[in-house]
Amino acid sequence: MKIPQDKIDEIRSSADIADVISNYVPLRKRGKNYIGLCPFHSEKTPSFTVNSNLQIYKCFGCSAGGNVFTFLMEYKNLSFIESVQEIAEQYGIKIEYEEEAFNKQQDEIEELYDINLVAAKYFSENLFKKSEGESARNYLEKRRLKVQTQKIFGLGYALDSWDSFLNLAKSKSIDLDKAKQIGLIDVNSTGGYYDKFRSRIIFPIFSPNGRVIAFGGRIFKEGEQGAKYLNSPESKVYHKRSALYGLYHAKESIREFDKAILVEGYMDLISLYQNGVKNVVASSGTSLTDEQVKLLGRFTKNIYVLFDADAAGQKAAVRSIEILLKENFEVKVITLPEGEDPDSFINNYGKDEFAEKVKNAASFFEYQVEQLRKAGKLDNVNDQTEAIREIVKNVALVKDVLRRTLLIKSLANKFGLREKLIESELEKIVSPKSERIIKPSLIEAEKQVVTIDEVKRIPELEREIIKLLFEGDSEILGLILDEVHDDDFTVEGFKILSSMIRSEFAGNKNVTTSYLIEKIENPKLKDFVEKLLLEDDPISKKMWEEYTNEIVLRNNKIIFAQDVVRRFHILTIDKTIHTIQNELNAEKDQSVITELLQELDALIKEKASLRNQHENS
Ligand code: GTP
Ligand code: MN
Repeated sequence: MKIPQDKIDEIRSSADIADVISNYVPLRKRGKNYIGLCPFHSEKTPSFTVNSNLQIYKCFGCSAGGNVFTFLMEYKNLSFIESVQEIAEQYGIKIEYEEEAFNKQQDEIEELYDINLVAAKYFSENLFKKSEGESARNYLEKRRLKVQTQKIFGLGYALDSWDSFLNLAKSKSIDLDKAKQIGLIDVNSTGGYYDKFRSRIIFPIFSPNGRVIAFGGRIFKEGEQGAKYLNSPESKVYHKRSALYGLYHAKESIREFDKAILVEGYMDLISLYQNGVKNVVASSGTSLTDEQVKLLGRFTKNIYVLFDADAAGQKAAVRSIEILLKENFEVKVITLPEGEDPDSFINNYGKDEFAEKVKNAASFFEYQVEQLRKAGKLDNVNDQTEAIREIVKNVALVKDVLRRTLLIKSLANKFGLREKLIESELEKIVSPKSERIIKPSLIEAEKQVVTIDEVKRIPELEREIIKLLFEGDSEILGLILDEVHDDDFTVEGFKILSSMIRSEFAGNKNVTTSYLIEKIENPKLKDFVEKLLLEDDPISKKMWEEYTNEIVLRNNKIIFAQDVVRRFHILTIDKTIHTIQNELNAEKDQSVITELLQELDALIKEKASLRNQHENS
């Protein structure tokens, strides 16, 4: 089932985003925007902004953003198509579906989900209804999981057989190649299929919206050989780097308490949940990835890391923490007694003791100092300097300057050191790092232009041009796209954005802001553009004011756009001129010098002509 693109465009442009969002989030008008408390993270002062002109929203707290469809997808956990349908219904627009043109990719993914669902139901029936499931039932009882809890997490049992799922799949005419893709069956050396999960307790892995994307299977019989856990492979529906076990079950509670507990194992998570601690997610043994942390960051920025007390667990904890700090999480660490994991702890000590542990959790930095103290690293001055460096390395990961300052203060207190000393250690780490983020090509460009102050404003002008493009005025779009080539931009991301808009515009589509936003594939660029459009951007404002003072023509966007483009061209020429001048200084070969001088001459003429245009307009 497919909705024609024209229809989607029509539906998008009929909806009023403020109207739709205010059904779910109280909004009030501020300036040209509406603001409210962000529904995607918890906050006390509103940073959720809705703009009716551009038909987009953005939260400056958690970075959630998009158009009217994205909002419904995120807020109500709808698919894209479902959100289009909902808006259509609300605005009384009738949808005619395209039957013949199937969206193949989407269809295939749906089929994979369906197969996983069939498998999940099948495993679950084995566990709860089949006599062969008895040993598995006994095992889970021994692990103190209530039947109700087992059902909440959709647990199952894979029979001790090489072909029982295979036969079911055949009887249901499931595409065996697809079942293989998602790791339910595999092919042996003689080309025959066999079940991958055999004689294991099954833990379905859910997407944040509750769809079954994969399985983990645990050995449980005495003396059974093989890895303790067998997990589904990476597939079109299971992206290991971004899946977080338990998020589907935990997300409400994480939002409610504005904090999450991170554990390693399936069993840890389920045990805590059963004991009423529901705001838990599990990394499932692998080390936490950026993608998982970003996903979690949509729900909370406060995390309690609770890994096994063993050395491996502590090591995994430290690695995870680095990623969390980089994403601006407030990190606390819960430590358990030797030999316990969260599952055993809550079963042995009870939930009150557990709550006490959470309450007494140390901030990550306190924890790190404590570890170093235990290791005797704080005993003499030499070791101490080394220890401070190690801690400061993590402080440097905290991007928020205010939080960093507070951390330095508390560290200074703990060590009895001057803040300045820690600051200067920090400086050594932070400064070279922020340079490294810049693309090498850009550094080169900047080096060449240091003496021409104006040229430094090129990225500013580029930003302004990108902003004008995304404002979706087709006259301005045409004007800019005619005069600025994608490769004229010095910032790589802008090249991508400009080329994307160019092809959308060429397709003669309805290039409104909310349409264009939907088409940005890279999430970082999308976030950048949304902020660019909605933030009260002092640079942009200054530029507009300068302009209006200069030419006294107020509110004339088209002339403004022409002028921004012209200034951009002039500065780009300045930059080239400067480069050529440097080359001239270094050049000894007379014929090359002559060539460079000719080039220089042409550029200076071109610049003069642009200046003239400017004065005559
Ligand atoms: P129990 O031993 O039943 O209490 O399970 P657990 O979840 O506490 O397991 P453990 O602490 O040994 O491991 C933590 C997590 O690491 C597990 O939940 C798995 O996700 C993962 N893991 C452990 N062993 C294996 C393995 O052999 N293979 C894979 N792929 N993952 C494993
Ligand atoms: Mn365990």
